[in-house]
Amino acid sequence: MTREITLKDGRKLPGLGMGTWYMGDHPEREAEEIEAVRAGINAGVSLIDTAEMYGSGRSERLVGKAIKNQPREELFLVSKVLPGNAGRRNIFKSLDNTLNRLGTDYLDLYLLHWRGGVPFRETVECMEEMVKQGRIRGWGVSNLDRDDMEELFRVPGGKNCLVNQVLYHLGSRGIEYDLLPWMESHDVACMAYCPLAQAGTLRRGLVESDAVKVIAEKHGASPLQILLAFTLLKKNAAPIPKSGRKEHVLQNAAALDIVLDEKDKKMLDEAFPAPDHHTYLDIV
Ligand SMILES: NC(=O)c1ccc[n+]([C@@H]2O[C@H](COP(=O)([O-])OP(=O)(O)OC[C@H]3O[C@@H](n4cnc5c(N)ncnc54)[C@H](OP(=O)(O)O)[C@@H]3O)[C@@H](O)[C@H]2O)c1
Repeated sequence: MTREITLKDGRKLPGLGMGTWYMGDHPEREAEEIEAVRAGINAGVSLIDTAEMYGSGRSERLVGKAIKNQPREELFLVSKVLPGNAGRRNIFKSLDNTLNRLGTDYLDLYLLHWRGGVPFRETVECMEEMVKQGRIRGWGVSNLDRDDMEELFRVPGGKNCLVNQVLYHLGSRGIEYDLLPWMESHDVACMAYCPLAQAGTLRRGLVESDAVKVIAEKHGASPLQILLAFTLLKKNAAPIPKSGRKEHVLQNAAALDIVLDEKDKKMLDEAFPAPDHHTYLDIV
C-alpha cells in the first residue's frame, strides 16, 4: 500500500520512512546495513531520515553508499542540522558536508534537530536562503513543543516550516493532546520518531501487553508491526522506524497493509490511553 502526506508546499511526504540512527557505526555491519536500506527502497520506502549528528556523519555516509545507484528523484532525503550549527556562521557548511556525505546536491527536507541558542529568526532566514539556492527543497524542525512552534510561526518566514519530527509511539502519546492537533490545523506534518519505542523495558511493556498480542494474532502480524500500525492511524504522521536488518525493514514496510479497526483502537486506547492534559514532550 502506498501512503503519502501532502505538505503545505504541495509536495508529497512518503507516509512511512526509514530511520538511520546508529547505522554506519560498526564497519563489520556496513554491508548488512546497506542491504537493509536498499531492500527498503526496493519495497517502496523512499523516505530516509538521517542527521549530521548520527555517528558524526557516519550514518549519512552509509546512506550515501546505499543510494549511490538509485535515481535521486525517487528518493525523499531528510537530514538535520545540530542546534549549535543552525546559525549563519555554520549552517551552510553543515549542509555542504551533509550533501557531500550523502553524495547528492539537494535535500528534500532539512530540519533543525532541536532548539538551541541560535534565534529562530536567524535559522529560518538561512533555511529560506538554502531553499532559494535549490540546495534544500524545504525545511522543518524537530523536538519542538506547541509553545516553541507558536514562537517559530511568529518569526518572518516561520510559517514555511513543513514538518516537526517528534517522538511518538503507543507508550508515549502526549503529542495527541495538543501538539498534533495544533500541527494539523497549521498544516505542519509530523515525522514520528522511535515508533517502535526503540528498545528496552518500555518496548517490552508494549509488545508483551495482552492488547498488542491479541491484535497481532488477529492480523497475523508481529507485535512490533502493530506498534507501527498504531502510528500509521494518524493521517498527518509518517513513522520512521530504524532497522539495519533487511528482514526487519521488510516487516516494517509490510505494516502499511495492516489496518486497525475500531475494536483494535478501543483496546489500545484502554491499555495505553493518551493523556487528557498537556505533558512535556518526550525526547530521546
Ligand atoms: N529527531 C530526533 O531527535 C530523533 C530522535 C531519535 C530518533 N530519530 C530518528 O527516528 C528513527 C527511529 O527511531 P529509533 O531508531 O530511535 O527507534 P525505533 O525505530 O523505534 O527502534 C529501532 C530499534 O528497533 C529495532 N527494530 C526495527 N525494526 C524491527 C523489527 N521489525 N523487528 C525487531 N526489531 C526491529 C532496531 O534494531 P535492528 O536494527 O536490529 O532491526 C532498533 O534497535 C531514528 O533512527 C532516527 O532516524 C530522530
